[in-house]
Amino acid sequence: MKSDNLFDVIIIGAGAAGLMAAISASERNKKVLVLDHAKRPGKKILISGGGRCNFTNYYIEPSKYISSNPHFCKSALNQYTQWDFISLVEKYDIAYHEKTLGQLFCDQSAKDIVSMLLSECEKNQVSFRYQQEIDEVKKDEKGYFFIKSNDSEYKAHSLIIASGGLSMPRLGATPFAYKVAESFDLDIVPTKAALVPLTLDPILKDLTEKISGISHSVNVFNEKAEFSEDLLFTHRGLSGPAVLQISSYWNQGEDIKINLLPTVCLKSHFDEALKSRPNCMLKTFLNFYFAKRLTETLLVLFKLKNIPIKQLSSKDLKILSQLQEWAVKPAGSEGYRTAEVTLGGVNTDAISSKTMEVKSIPGLFFIGEALDVTGWLGGYNFQWAWSSGWVAGKNA
Ligand code: FDA
Repeated sequence: MKSDNLFDVIIIGAGAAGLMAAISASERNKKVLVLDHAKRPGKKILISGGGRCNFTNYYIEPSKYISSNPHFCKSALNQYTQWDFISLVEKYDIAYHEKTLGQLFCDQSAKDIVSMLLSECEKNQVSFRYQQEIDEVKKDEKGYFFIKSNDSEYKAHSLIIASGGLSMPRLGATPFAYKVAESFDLDIVPTKAALVPLTLDPILKDLTEKISGISHSVNVFNEKAEFSEDLLFTHRGLSGPAVLQISSYWNQGEDIKINLLPTVCLKSHFDEALKSRPNCMLKTFLNFYFAKRLTETLLVLFKLKNIPIKQLSSKDLKILSQLQEWAVKPAGSEGYRTAEVTLGGVNTDAISSKTMEVKSIPGLFFIGEALDVTGWLGGYNFQWAWSSGWVAGKNA
């Protein structure tokens, strides 16, 4: 093997976590190589946040991450915080803004974040090789990690697996990290598409199709979680931030509940309307709260007649109250094709939460989405990628 193929640290995956690991390892004067099967780095960063990359959140906290071990993410999130990433962004004069709920987006383009990460790598002479199909990863008898790709062989003292999860195969997602983990006898927590639109059965779908594109502020909840954000009706079912968030806490066959009027006491509003304008038609009453097309669909959905509100029976009123607790049983999810992230992954029991190193295999690290740590929507997943990547790079 040529000596220029021997590195201190090899990172597989030039995504968010891998690039950050390359920066922090190279800052320690390590000779670092990043390998990726894609033609270029940071594909998910580039399309994230509608092209503006929701790169972190002001309110990062462990309770906003899902994992079999909810404590695992704490150390890395403390060691490299949202404020650390924000100061890097500011150092590069990248203009940003808070959109909502602490979510920070670039003013211009997600390209600014990728350029920033690549500039930091360049500063410290990180090497990159793209279009690398990795055939073999093993630890040799001398303790080096040996990596064989379609066109070369590499060796390193430390190996960081940053190849992400299964979401969006069209952007290059593969189960590579899980396969490497299994080859080293590590467990995988079963994976599932998360932050994903939910589909509806044909009858409901026919109805929501008619209002696809309409967004409405709701509170969506089940026994495990509750989110107050927008719901978006689509051709396939339900999407929008509220639904993406609850999808991470939803299992096939379960109901979700939707309060379509989260900021209103419907009963008192209705009683008031009954006194002041008893002849008001139900549609007119509801149009005060909903887009007209949505009102029409809700009347069909809940089998309510458009009659003066004074004529509504007690049964009708009970049905009307379901607007604040609409139980929906999604048919499924759109799956990894459109999911933003993957729930589950490499079991964190085997990994040091302080360094991301596999406890039983010195020099082997897993970071980012490959691990069983999944954040909420809103910049939480990139922060996990930055934090876990930084920590691994500091210890590899
Ligand atoms: P990531 O998937 O970014 O990188 C993995 C890298 O490994 C890729 O470069 C890939 O090509 C490479 N790779 C995979 N398999 C390989 C193999 N077999 N061999 C070699 N290389 C391989 N999060 C957030 O916080 N804010 C946001 O705005 C968004 N928006 C968003 C939009 C969309 C459409 C998606 C799909 C996702 C988001 N996310 C997000 C989630 C976020 O993108 C995600 O959590 C991080 O990119 C995960 O970073 P990783 O580096 O772990 O994996």
